[in-house]
Amino acid sequence: MSLSLKQEFENMLTKESRLAIELSADNAMIFGVDIYLIGGIVRDFIMHNKIKDIDIAVEGDAIEFAEFLSSKVRCRIIQIQENLKTAKIIFPSGVEIDFASTREEIYTGSGILPKAHNFGCNLKNDVKRRDFTINTLAIKLTDNKKYELVDYFGGYQDILNKKIKILHEKSFIDDPSRIIRALKFKERFDFEIDEKTYNLMLQYLKIPDKNMPLERIKSEVKQYFSIDKEDIYERFIESESYKLFCDNPVQVINKSRLNEIKTLNIPEKPDIRFIYFVCLVINSDYTSLRFNLTAREIKIINQVREFLFCNTEKQDNLQIYKSYKDADNQAVLIYYLLSGDKNVIKFLSELKNTEILTTGKDLIELGFKPSKSFSDIFDLILKEKLDGKLKTKEEETVFIKNNIKKESE
Ligand code: CTP
Repeated sequence: MSLSLKQEFENMLTKESRLAIELSADNAMIFGVDIYLIGGIVRDFIMHNKIKDIDIAVEGDAIEFAEFLSSKVRCRIIQIQENLKTAKIIFPSGVEIDFASTREEIYTGSGILPKAHNFGCNLKNDVKRRDFTINTLAIKLTDNKKYELVDYFGGYQDILNKKIKILHEKSFIDDPSRIIRALKFKERFDFEIDEKTYNLMLQYLKIPDKNMPLERIKSEVKQYFSIDKEDIYERFIESESYKLFCDNPVQVINKSRLNEIKTLNIPEKPDIRFIYFVCLVINSDYTSLRFNLTAREIKIINQVREFLFCNTEKQDNLQIYKSYKDADNQAVLIYYLLSGDKNVIKFLSELKNTEILTTGKDLIELGFKPSKSFSDIFDLILKEKLDGKLKTKEEETVFIKNNIKKESE
């Protein structure tokens, strides 16, 4: 049975996007290749989700086609990837389209990026390399079957049944990041993971390859955590997919503290996606190392570990302030999440923005000789300010005059 998605094409895309796609299709026919909307965009058409990216598969050489298109129509190639034979084009309206040559892929090891070959193959062989049936759908843009759904693996029915299903038994062995992709789509669309697919997931997680590169896994974990849903972290732990990258028990997150930091009235809001990620890796040096963390990620993890290690009773506001003032806000928040140290809340909501209004120049004008003792003087003022005893600069000046002796006195 053939299914036309013309209605969705007309109703769900902007006028500018439609025009860019139509121009591409007309020129593909002149150039002599078939082109198809492919993957996420087709899935989102059927589900009536917001369309994000426009991906087009070219049954031929996508770079040559993009060069042809940009010579015929007002548009510009802004990116070319020679190894995968892909090209990104921008139209004057700002619409961008990613053109990819159809290709097959061979996996040489678990988690290792596949080797692409047989560029320009037929569409069926291209979609065979993909992760889930719901992502194998295409819409033909050329010839008489324009707007017709091309569904080789039953993806349309799986969308209607809300099922996430892999295409073949080795899918997770080839690319274990698909385990996290399955969880991501499950959460994003409220779908179920098909039973057979789920069992293969569990089977892989029993003996994951300890040496596989974690680049794609890291990216998928971050995408998973960017889904704004209750208990997303807990469900990730329950799925045991953390076993892809660590043996240690993963850090549990205290929910009431999490809600507390989400609602704190502070200028720099908690980056929940990042906080979840740090909680996953903080207990394992080995994982941190394998994840190829960025300098900022390493810095924050080290700061949190140091806070946890030096979790001693703080005597006064000055000590609290000095402990956290130079740290990244996210590190301070994560430390609170893991320790429940209420001083952190005090620091963030009351102390953090405390500023001394007196300057070194003011001290000189008050008769103090420039010296190292200036920092002690500033500490005395700061302590009073943090305790709420001084507000204005005048009050600071009176405090200095009444309480701080000059060296000559
Ligand atoms: N893909 C895959 N295995 C992966 C990553 C991607 O098979 N590990 C395939 C999927 O079939 C997907 C396509 O490559 O449709 C493009 O990947 P991506 O842009 O991540 O997928 P989308 O489905 O567009 O997802 P999103 O909506 O999150 O952008």
